[in-house]
Amino acid sequence: MLYLKDLTYHPPATPTPILKNVNLELAPQELGLIVGPSGSGKSTLLELLAGLAERTRGVIAWGEQELDAYELQYLAGLVFQFPERHFCGGTILEELRLGHPELGLERVRATLFEVGLDHLSLSTPPHVLSGGQQRRLALAVQLIRQPNILLLDEPTAGLDWSIRRQVVRLLEKLKEHWTLLIVTHDAEGLAKISDRCWRIETGTLTSHQF
Ligand SMILES: Nc1ncnc2c1ncn2[C@@H]1O[C@H](COP(=O)(O)OP(=O)(O)OP(=O)(O)O)[C@@H](O)[C@H]1O
Ligand SMILES: [Mg+2]
Repeated sequence: MLYLKDLTYHPPATPTPILKNVNLELAPQELGLIVGPSGSGKSTLLELLAGLAERTRGVIAWGEQELDAYELQYLAGLVFQFPERHFCGGTILEELRLGHPELGLERVRATLFEVGLDHLSLSTPPHVLSGGQQRRLALAVQLIRQPNILLLDEPTAGLDWSIRRQVVRLLEKLKEHWTLLIVTHDAEGLAKISDRCWRIETGTLTSHQF
C-alpha cells in the first residue's frame, strides 16, 4: 500500500508551496489516476515519489515502512513525459541494461514480453521504433527493475488515437501485476481503467469520481 500523509513541498525559491498537504492511498495492483491542469504540481509530485526531490514535510510510506528519498529511488520507477527523448542506449538491450549490466537475458526477454515487444531483435536501435513501441520500451526500462510502484507522467501525451488506445490497453494489463500511479492533464481513455482518481489544482489533491 502506498500511503501519503500531509505531503508538502515548498522549495525556498517559491512564494507558496507547490504541493500542499497531499493525502493519498493506493493499494497493490491498483491504478491511481491524478488529473490536473498545467502547473498544478503533477510532475513535482512524481519527482517526490521517485526520490528525485526532498519533501518539505509529510510522510511517504509503503505499507508500514516510511521511506526517505534514497529508498524511494529503489521502490519507485518513474516514466517521464516523452520518455523516448531520454533514450541513450544504442540498442534495445543496452537501453534495458543501462545501469544494470548484470541483468540476464531471461529477465530482458520476460520484460519485453510483458510490454509486447518480444518479437523485436535486441539489437534494434530504440530510435527506429514507432512512437507506440518507444513508449512500451520506456515502460520496460522501469519494469525490468521490478519497482513496487510504477509512476507515469502523461503516458499518452503526443500519441495519435489508435496508438493511445494500445498504450491504455497495455497499462490496463500491467495493472494485473504492478501498482501504477498516473498523472495527466487529460483523463481520456485512462479514467475508465483507473481504480482511484484524484484532481490536483495548485498543489491541492482531492478525490474525484469520473
Ligand atoms: N524546482 C522548482 N522550483 C521552483 N518552482 C518549480 C520547480 N519545479 C516546478 N515548479 C513550479 O511548480 C508548479 C508545478 O509544476 P509541475 O511541473 O509539477 O506541474 P505539472 O502539473 O506537471 O504541469 P504540466 O502539466 O505542464 O506538466 C509550477 O508552477 C512550476 O512552475
Ligand atoms: Mg508535468
